[in-house]
Amino acid sequence: MLDTPSNRVEDIRLQSFSLTYEFPVAFTRDAFGIGNRCLIDALTRREPDKRHKCAIFVDKGVLSAMPDLAAHIGGYFAAHADKIEMVGSVLPVAGGEICKNNSETVPNLLVTLSKLAIDRHSYTIAVGGGALLDAVGYASAIFHRGVRHIRFPTTVLAQGDSGVGVKNAVNLFGVKNLIGTFAPPWAIINDSAFIGILPPREKRAGMAEAVKVALIRDSNFFGWLENNADALATFSAPHLDRLIKDSAELHMGQIRLGGDPFEAGSARPLDFGHWSAHKLEQLTDHEVSHGEAVAIGIALDTRYSVLTGLLAKGEDDRVLRLLKRLGFVLWDDRLRHRSASGELALLQGLAEFREHLGGELTVTLLADVGRGVEVHEMDPAVVSQCIDWLEQAGLA
Ligand SMILES: NC(=O)c1ccc[n+]([C@@H]2O[C@H](COP(=O)([O-])OP(=O)(O)OC[C@H]3O[C@@H](n4cnc5c(N)ncnc54)[C@H](O)[C@@H]3O)[C@@H](O)[C@H]2O)c1
Ligand SMILES: [Zn+2]
Repeated sequence: MLDTPSNRVEDIRLQSFSLTYEFPVAFTRDAFGIGNRCLIDALTRREPDKRHKCAIFVDKGVLSAMPDLAAHIGGYFAAHADKIEMVGSVLPVAGGEICKNNSETVPNLLVTLSKLAIDRHSYTIAVGGGALLDAVGYASAIFHRGVRHIRFPTTVLAQGDSGVGVKNAVNLFGVKNLIGTFAPPWAIINDSAFIGILPPREKRAGMAEAVKVALIRDSNFFGWLENNADALATFSAPHLDRLIKDSAELHMGQIRLGGDPFEAGSARPLDFGHWSAHKLEQLTDHEVSHGEAVAIGIALDTRYSVLTGLLAKGEDDRVLRLLKRLGFVLWDDRLRHRSASGELALLQGLAEFREHLGGELTVTLLADVGRGVEVHEMDPAVVSQCIDWLEQAGLA
């Protein structure tokens, strides 16, 4: 008998599989010193007897701050020539947000990967700030549908936050991180020697993400930041080292245990203070950097948490005090910028934040120091009061 629409049984089968991701996150110093095993062990961990091809992209900002780096990397590869091969030479790429804004960056990287005949068993290695890692990580994730990728984050922000995550992105149509992928790397190597050469402004900017993750996850870490703010403000190396490790561990814990590593839901639990930060970066044409904008976003959303009764009074002043002691500038006139319709331009950041994930607006606020809480709406009038407060208190 022929199936008729009324008696047809649909043949639906359920496909199901899961994957475990496992990769080393090393904290070391002088990773390209010949005796340092972090990189060689990461490269050879799957096929110890093979010789591995690597394309190495290095942030130009890092190369100019560390002029002997290319020779140092060359020496490392020469010393381990039986196991690893650098294809081409060290490949300089302009770092900073410009590399995510420039629509030529990713196509150029793909051309290079193609010329170097990188295949899915070869490696791309990126040495640089979060922006460079995002761009090279994205190109690596889409080339041949994904080649093995090793990150060497070189800023406080990238070592403690973005570099230990599982995503990448570049900016498009003026929208930050509009295209990108979730692509866990093959390995992450955090080398403290890169932090030593980082300009003070960049060292400070990265601390904002540590304050952020302490506020939403770990009151003890927040207490440690308060107790050591003076040493951190003068960039004491052992203190920065500890800040990076604790921050990285908290970010990694969220990805490992949070139940949504590829952010399929509507929440962005690690993005406290970020809805306004991303907008402020855009409003200032990235004159205010990501970390600096996050410090301002943290202050605004902490105040919002207090004004809406979620967080005890006085905790906003406490957070502001720490950010100031760390040396952050907590005001920018463009926070008051109005669109043609007269609306606060910053508020557009809420819509963009929601659009990025889809679903319901989900913003993380604070229920306590060390405890984030999700809300699904923000009152524009209260946001406006927070801006007033920040202008007064932030400039005081
Ligand atoms: N993928 C993610 O999950 C994620 C998460 C958070 C942030 N990010 C992204 O990270 C980017 C910010 O990264 P960032 O704060 O590391 O800054 P950055 O990559 O923009 O680098 C800032 C500047 O420092 C230079 N530089 C980098 N390392 C240096 C060093 N050791 N010595 C001297 N100069 C150095 C760079 O050339 C650049 O000019 C943003 O684009 C942000 O969106 C990504
Ligand atoms: Zn951030």
